[in-house]
Amino acid sequence: MRSGNKKMEIETIALHADRDLSSNKAVAPALEQSVTYAVDKEDDFAAKAEMPFYDQFYARHGTPTSSKIAKVIADMEGGDGALMFSSGMAAITTTILSFVNAGDHIIVQQSLYSATASFFRKFLARFGVRVSAVNQTSIETFEAEITNDTKLIYVETPVNPLMTLTDLVKISEIAKAHDILTICDNTFATPVNQKPLQLGIDVVVHSVTKYIGGHHDLLSGCVVTASSRLEQIWDTGMDLGPTAAPFNSWLALRGVRTLKLRVDQQNKNALQIATFLENHPCVGKIYYPGLKSHLQHELAKKQMSGSGGMIAFEVLGGYEKAAQFINSLKYCLNAASLGGVDTLVIQPASMFRARLDDKEIQALGIAPGLVRLSIGIEAVTDLIEDLDQALRSK
Ligand SMILES: Cc1ncc(COP(=O)(O)O)c(C=O)c1O
Repeated sequence: MRSGNKKMEIETIALHADRDLSSNKAVAPALEQSVTYAVDKEDDFAAKAEMPFYDQFYARHGTPTSSKIAKVIADMEGGDGALMFSSGMAAITTTILSFVNAGDHIIVQQSLYSATASFFRKFLARFGVRVSAVNQTSIETFEAEITNDTKLIYVETPVNPLMTLTDLVKISEIAKAHDILTICDNTFATPVNQKPLQLGIDVVVHSVTKYIGGHHDLLSGCVVTASSRLEQIWDTGMDLGPTAAPFNSWLALRGVRTLKLRVDQQNKNALQIATFLENHPCVGKIYYPGLKSHLQHELAKKQMSGSGGMIAFEVLGGYEKAAQFINSLKYCLNAASLGGVDTLVIQPASMFRARLDDKEIQALGIAPGLVRLSIGIEAVTDLIEDLDQALRSK
């Protein structure tokens, strides 16, 4: 958790931001698994235990391997520093719990990652924190909900299920005018496509499990913000124990080296696939910020440098037809999660059926035939051929 190197381009940051944290000239970073570190004399323990971000005392406080990936992500996002967590949800919940008390009020968007939404709706209510969920496309509704108790505005953009965007500049302006902290989940966009801190947002969180890790083989999360806030979050983490495991941080470090290459390819593949789907006779509505037909295409152009790898669209014929389409795919794997090198596909109505009834699913804007694609780095011609044959399958 150190700063600097902000002048490098993002591709170079991915490879060099952590170099000065290496103790020797090894080209590949070391994986340091030690949970505890010896001191020269007993008195040294007290100083170490109180020190924020110290990564060579006891692994719940931090580890050298996690400090390296934290440094890379912080520089990519343009923040003072970052802290690594065991999962995206660990990063999100520890961050929020660091800034709210009983009696406080939070404003969030109605569409959020499901576990984040559940944390706001169910968990925080048990501790006397009031949460208002508003339509993210209407900045006026955020403003209308602000009270003297509002401490935090939490957003996520683009977001499931319809790749809806939130105007980060406008949100940060109204929040600053009322001295309210802003947090943005930048998982879908990645720092390659969107830099919320540069748009005025105070805190960025990520599920590192997704694009930053990029290979569907690790679970991790992170928060990027100013040093004073990181100290507060680190303090909360000391009590809750959500720290990242060194091996997962090492895998994330290996993954992040190619983030720019992967995301550039995913942006390109997704735009071609979205254009193909938009013109396909078996496809209804399609939601991709890079298409002119997306209701917030102009906002996408303003705050994103690439439109990302996530697409949602409706298979004509409803639930059964969408299920049949997914079952007929060869390369697009039917699996949860997103952001990795392999293309993944899910049918949101089917996933949500375990927890919600049909009316609740419809209220979320999820049509029975809606399908979500997380585009990978396969040859786009193969992916298009696969999607076409599955859409036409009888
Ligand atoms: C946008 C977003 N934020 C946060 C999370 C939670 O991340 P994790 O599964 O690493 O806890 C997810 C997981 O899918 C996500 O998609």
